[in-house]
Amino acid sequence: MIPNTFGINATADQVVAIQNESHLQEVLASGTIGRLPHLVVGGGSNLVFTRPFPGVVLLMQNKGVAVLAEDPLERKVSVKVSAGEILDDFVHLAVARGWHGMENLVAIPGTVGAAPVQNVGAYGVEAKDVVQEVNAYEIATGKKRIFSNADCRFGYRDSVFKHEFKDLYVVESVVFSLSLDFDPNLNYAALASLEKPVTPESLVEGIANLRWSKLPRPEEIGSAGSFFKNPIVTASHFEKLKSEYPDIVAYPAGDGFKLAAGWLIEHSGWKGKNLGKCGVYEKQALVLVNRGGCTGEDVLRLASAVEADVQAKFGVLLEKEAIIV
Ligand code: EPU
Repeated sequence: MIPNTFGINATADQVVAIQNESHLQEVLASGTIGRLPHLVVGGGSNLVFTRPFPGVVLLMQNKGVAVLAEDPLERKVSVKVSAGEILDDFVHLAVARGWHGMENLVAIPGTVGAAPVQNVGAYGVEAKDVVQEVNAYEIATGKKRIFSNADCRFGYRDSVFKHEFKDLYVVESVVFSLSLDFDPNLNYAALASLEKPVTPESLVEGIANLRWSKLPRPEEIGSAGSFFKNPIVTASHFEKLKSEYPDIVAYPAGDGFKLAAGWLIEHSGWKGKNLGKCGVYEKQALVLVNRGGCTGEDVLRLASAVEADVQAKFGVLLEKEAIIV
């Protein structure tokens, strides 16, 4: 079975568990995988399987953390972390070592290798703020390529690995640029409630508590985290919605506004509702959950029903954040 936090029974024709960099080089050397349908899986925390995967799954299990450079004057440290490391474990290790900048990313499920692909983010910090370089291998040729932060072309839950290089590269490791000084990012409104002064440990603990008060723990209830992205609409569309729904939750984003998809779904009447064995989580409507024995088809059916109702009521098209396999 292929790991996935939704808890869907997922299989593939072939699964190759990658243990280290030379193993990855060996596996890619023949070029066979590039010619077959392939899928790179870390923790499977953003995937919804709707069928047995007809090809090869590369399961990234390579481990390792290494300091590449430390600059006590610039107060910076560069740390290389293998793709198969658990992101949350690294966030805790960084706090313990006095490396700062990733505290707000605590308790995000998944692996380090997946973090730059979808530019994971929470509580005002995104992977793009701390990624220095991404070491990746071209699947077709086995050639290594180093992507700088700019090369990754990060956007909201987005990067080059979801567009022109989609399915073409496998991330082997990520180099993070972290700070030796603690300068907490407390801009996210919900963080105002944290007790002052904030320490690295209290920030990590406070954010983890906040997260788990709204989001299901994968070991208890299956989900892919936020199932949809928060949609961005034009200023005029937002003004129209705001006049009709004065309580709508939105934040300025470029020339337009980013709407809280959770609010739209809740106000379409879906919060806490089920369709088949899939449900809309009662504490956070942006999350679709496994009510027990849920299949990929159950997820798609509910997602389509939610999308249709949000579109009909607010004229907003929700885009899936989770990847449908
Ligand atoms: N809201 C509702 N009803 C709901 C859910 C949310 O009205 O059922 C409104 C609330 O007013 C709330 C606002 O939406 O204040 C924003 O909610 P929240 O702070 O929970 O954040 P979010 O926009 O729903 C995003 C990320 C999360 C991330 C949090 C915190 C996306 C798609 N999701 O959720 O990321 O943890 O912010 O930064 O951007 C993930 O990607 O899997 C994920 C969990």
